[in-house]
Amino acid sequence: MEPFTTRPSPRLVGGPGALAELPACIRESGGKNVLIVTDPGIVAAGHVARATAMLTEAGIDFTVYDDTSENPEESDIAAACEFARGVEVDCFVGLGGGSSMDTAKGCNFLLTNGGTMSDYKGYALARTPLLPFVAVPTTAGTGSECQSYAVISRDQSHEKMACGDPGALATFAILDPELTASMPHQVAVLTALDALAHSLETAVCTRRNPLSSAFSREAFLHIASAIESTLAGNATGQDRSEMLLGASFSGLAIENSMLGAAHASANPLTARFGLAHGHAVALMLPHVMRYNYEEPAARDTYDHYGGLLSRRGYAEVPVTQWVEDLLGLAALPSLGEVGVDPRVFPELAEDATRQWTGQFNPRAMTAEGFVLLYQRAMDAVSAPSAL
Ligand SMILES: [Fe+2]
Repeated sequence: MEPFTTRPSPRLVGGPGALAELPACIRESGGKNVLIVTDPGIVAAGHVARATAMLTEAGIDFTVYDDTSENPEESDIAAACEFARGVEVDCFVGLGGGSSMDTAKGCNFLLTNGGTMSDYKGYALARTPLLPFVAVPTTAGTGSECQSYAVISRDQSHEKMACGDPGALATFAILDPELTASMPHQVAVLTALDALAHSLETAVCTRRNPLSSAFSREAFLHIASAIESTLAGNATGQDRSEMLLGASFSGLAIENSMLGAAHASANPLTARFGLAHGHAVALMLPHVMRYNYEEPAARDTYDHYGGLLSRRGYAEVPVTQWVEDLLGLAALPSLGEVGVDPRVFPELAEDATRQWTGQFNPRAMTAEGFVLLYQRAMDAVSAPSAL
């Protein structure tokens, strides 16, 4: 056995209607004055009104901050913190997708410890205890609800920073599949593909360990059972439950291991071309998997996952082919269609080599390796799938 150390998990509260447990989770976390960090789409979906009605009935004071930005940057977190300083806060609730949960975590760092988010790039750099945090995801993808990291971008370069601390981990994560029913179809597609990438990248990364591998595998099975209907736009309530469990278990796998070259190569595409995270990751994933297939342990894992697909009756093809078929079903615009020019590949590749997560890919990554991956992704044609 290789030496390893695992990290704690939030207490998970799951099931249809689990949002009703929010007041109890806040109380048990010690909160009396809550800042709910969310975004306008979640307000429009009615989730904030439902949550605040529950808090009112429970006698818990709250303030709503609904100005979260997609891919939050340092200045977004500073603005949220400025707002938080003006109200009484002893507990954060992140109600929304990854951006809302990461903004809540980032705001927690700045409110309790001061400075800017770049001060916390890395792990365990907070000197003062953070406030309790309750995570309520409304998407099934990021897994942020199960991670002690806030992913925040630098203002000018848009470089993603992973800012972690044991105190940033949620005390509770409420997994209510009724909340993810409001996702617009394209959000459901991109977050599902991101979650799938999390389950596959954590499974083969060099930081994997027995616990993260168990989470990766279980996440993969939940996701595999529901992703086709999610991409096709006909997911049932059961499918939404499966996707939410898969995304959260993938988050636990990340918390206990790391990601890989699909995320390392995707982040520069998001930073430079504004490509949505799940879109960028999905376009890179099969090429990274084919690249990693040369590494014996990664090949064994991919083959094992292919066997799982077959035994469960999901697909009779190798797992990489299955992922490519899913991308055909998602019909995402290709790198060329979103305006990526091959002449920038060397610059993108340099950026990719500086992504922390790329260091843990099963095959060591160089700039030349990333150029090859971008070239292969560029050459790939999105074709309607036979699925
Ligand atoms: Fe991701």
